[in-house]
Amino acid sequence: MCGIIGYIGDKQAQSILLNCLRRLEYRGYDSCGIAVAANAIEVYKDEVRVEALGKASPQFDGTVGIGHTRWATHGEPSQANAHPHLDCTGNIAVVHNGVISNFQALKQQLTSEGHNFVSETDTEVIPHLIEKYYDGNLEKAVEAALRDVEGSYAIIVLMKGESKLITARKDSPLIIGVGDRESFIASDVPAILDYTDRVIYLEDGDIGVVTQGNIKIRRDDKEVAWAEDKILWSVEEAQKAGYEHFMLKEIHEQPKVIRNTLGEYTRDTEPVIDLAGMRDTGIASMLMLAAGTSYNAALIGKYIMEELLRIPVRVEIASEFNYYSYIPARTVAIAITQSGETADTLKAMKRLKEVRGRVIAITNVVGSTATRLANQTVYTRAGPEISVAATKTFVAQLMVLYWLAMAYSKADARRLAALLMELRQLPSKVQQVLDNEAEIMEQAKYLAKYENVFFIGRGINYPVALEGALKLKEISYIHAEGLAGGEIKHHTLAVLSHKTPVIALLARDNTYEAMLTNIKEIKARGAPVIVVAEEGDGAIEELVDSVITLPRVDTLFSPVVNVVALQLLAYYTARERGCSIDFPRNLAKSVTVE
Ligand code: G6P
Repeated sequence: MCGIIGYIGDKQAQSILLNCLRRLEYRGYDSCGIAVAANAIEVYKDEVRVEALGKASPQFDGTVGIGHTRWATHGEPSQANAHPHLDCTGNIAVVHNGVISNFQALKQQLTSEGHNFVSETDTEVIPHLIEKYYDGNLEKAVEAALRDVEGSYAIIVLMKGESKLITARKDSPLIIGVGDRESFIASDVPAILDYTDRVIYLEDGDIGVVTQGNIKIRRDDKEVAWAEDKILWSVEEAQKAGYEHFMLKEIHEQPKVIRNTLGEYTRDTEPVIDLAGMRDTGIASMLMLAAGTSYNAALIGKYIMEELLRIPVRVEIASEFNYYSYIPARTVAIAITQSGETADTLKAMKRLKEVRGRVIAITNVVGSTATRLANQTVYTRAGPEISVAATKTFVAQLMVLYWLAMAYSKADARRLAALLMELRQLPSKVQQVLDNEAEIMEQAKYLAKYENVFFIGRGINYPVALEGALKLKEISYIHAEGLAGGEIKHHTLAVLSHKTPVIALLARDNTYEAMLTNIKEIKARGAPVIVVAEEGDGAIEELVDSVITLPRVDTLFSPVVNVVALQLLAYYTARERGCSIDFPRNLAKSVTVE
């Protein structure tokens, strides 16, 4: 979704802003723009990619500027709606991430006071409010303007003649990057990785005044001392490293990611954190909340937790949970969110806190909003994930769930020891799947011709079927549906034909026989079947059209090897269809609106 960047320093701002915007592209956007303080505020923006913006824009001479990638919410993608937005004088420019919920009323009021609007955006009220309140002190004018607005925002304000940037946040992420004789303001870390590894995470309600050599942060009308953190991600991690797409690179990083995330938490025999006080008191039940791919990880987490902890686990889509009328007090919940910024998940966390719930966040982003709302945070160590489609963060989330469940498990010591041994072998098992890429590529060529594909699974592999379908739909634009094997006879058999391939996840567990029955039912309706099965299952080859063979693992870990195969299948299918794999149309990496 929208990304913002600000630069103030001793270098020309324009090329730095454009480079930072390139690093924000992964968030998903439809238009972009920059403003640089030269003799006047120079703005160039359009409904184009950052590269095209850079080529087409005139050279601006100035060392202070702001930039924006826009993901349309209020008003279509267009030049007029792209940021930065200006006030009537053209002296005040603003970029904004978030939603101003009372903008209609503010716009009406400002219009009646003589302000002229040129876009359909909610954002445009902000420069006009600042103009209205400006009497020589920009900081005070921004504060007054923000008192009028409701909703969420991370903003950066640039004004002609002022060698400073003003920035503020409420419910949208915002960081300040600290460099030598220069500072950056951005919506997230990858934007500034090329320039600095020193960062300040702003809190809700903070207003920052950033000059070339100084950073001042005000909270509740008082100046606060700020602390710098070191960014642990490297520039290399956020680059393609010779791969055709970020997604392929990130799929291939998974053996390392598993090792990193496990290494973080299994160094000691004792768990590193005490999950919700569970070690002393135990808990009777658990809730998991998430959106998108993280929701599928949570669904797998239910099977893991219920098997190893022997407590009931409820999993909810965060955006639906937010409309439930009844939430039991003191619920223990795990919120899973790779970005730590998904608006629906954050809202659900807040609702839980209101009823004295205890929330553990699993996230990949240090300092993200989820970490501030949570009582405890467990980080996945996946490194920056640039492709919109989540792959390595999903597998890292599973690793944390395995670890948490095993740390508190009620299973006997022998089973646990066996699981731990398998867990340590997972990176090499995943590597075997990756080494089998050519076989999966062949299947993808075949799949790419179809417009409807179904995925089925049972037990712990039912959510893997959901994730396989999500991934294929997201990046190849093929309509795909994930189903519980047992459900197809209630509806989907009605639409199956030779035009609807079915991918069946066949695990060597207590679901095996029932899955075989499903596969036969599907074949009887003429639909092509591709089975994903572990090696050594020769019998299945007779029954189906083709088989993707995977290394043998304990059923509890089968989602990991299966999902890596389905990620590759989605990737190569999308590639075969010539899709924009890393940036699928209309989707965003970090969904900061409801
Ligand atoms: C977006 C991303 C998905 C992600 C979902 C939830 O739709 O494109 O990859 O699964 O948001 O994001 P979260 O950051 O909460 O895991």
